[in-house]
Amino acid sequence: MKIKIYIFFLSAFFLIPVLSVYGQYPKLESDLDYKVHAFLEEQVGQWRDMNISVADGRLLYNLVLEGNYTKALEIGTSTGHSAIWIAWALSKTGGKLITIEIDKKRYVKALANFKKAGLSNYIDARLGNAHDLVPQLEETFDFVFCDADRLWYKNYFATLEPKIVKGGCFIAHNVKMRSGEIKEFIDYISSRENFYTIVDNRSRSGISRSYKK
Ligand SMILES: C[S@@+](CC[C@H](N)C(=O)[O-])C[C@H]1O[C@@H](n2cnc3c(N)ncnc32)[C@H](O)[C@@H]1O
Repeated sequence: MKIKIYIFFLSAFFLIPVLSVYGQYPKLESDLDYKVHAFLEEQVGQWRDMNISVADGRLLYNLVLEGNYTKALEIGTSTGHSAIWIAWALSKTGGKLITIEIDKKRYVKALANFKKAGLSNYIDARLGNAHDLVPQLEETFDFVFCDADRLWYKNYFATLEPKIVKGGCFIAHNVKMRSGEIKEFIDYISSRENFYTIVDNRSRSGISRSYKK
């Protein structure tokens, strides 16, 4: 019992500072930073459409900046929380995001959110079934965030694999779920010799990152 309490306090001591730094907003410098930040603050507790957490948003933001990525794709816009974090980072790298959503109501809400956040110029939002739209994409990408129907993750990756540039990254959300399709996806992506895959345990939902060698 004493050992359990000791471990609990020890983990809290190390984890709380790490988690709080991890979840914070980046330093605000430009007018756009202040606008995005104000929007995100106003939205706290309002994301109700399977949107990612703020911590995962910050993680995506950091990843875009770390890789200096500019050609981004998101599958599964919902009402736009993750797209806002990605596009915020792209506003700094000079990039642009294509994001795809099948549900018209969520797509319309996402467009309104992008406008309120001041990020519309950085986002090309498309309404439709990603099963059809992804194979039609002619662009190459250096950053892909996959957060739609998990049954299709492996197919999305297989379709996009040749369109991802060297050093580019394919990110999948919700990979901690122990479903058959996620296991199949992780096994497949980990077996690709031209990609290096890690599962990021900082995210509660589980985020895999696969970098093209
Ligand atoms: C987990 S939510 C995405 C959350 C979003 N990334 C965010 O953090 O704000 C998944 C979204 O994928 C969409 N979706 C599911 N299957 C799809 C498909 N085949 N094509 C396009 N969008 C799809 C759903 O309608 C849903 O809005």
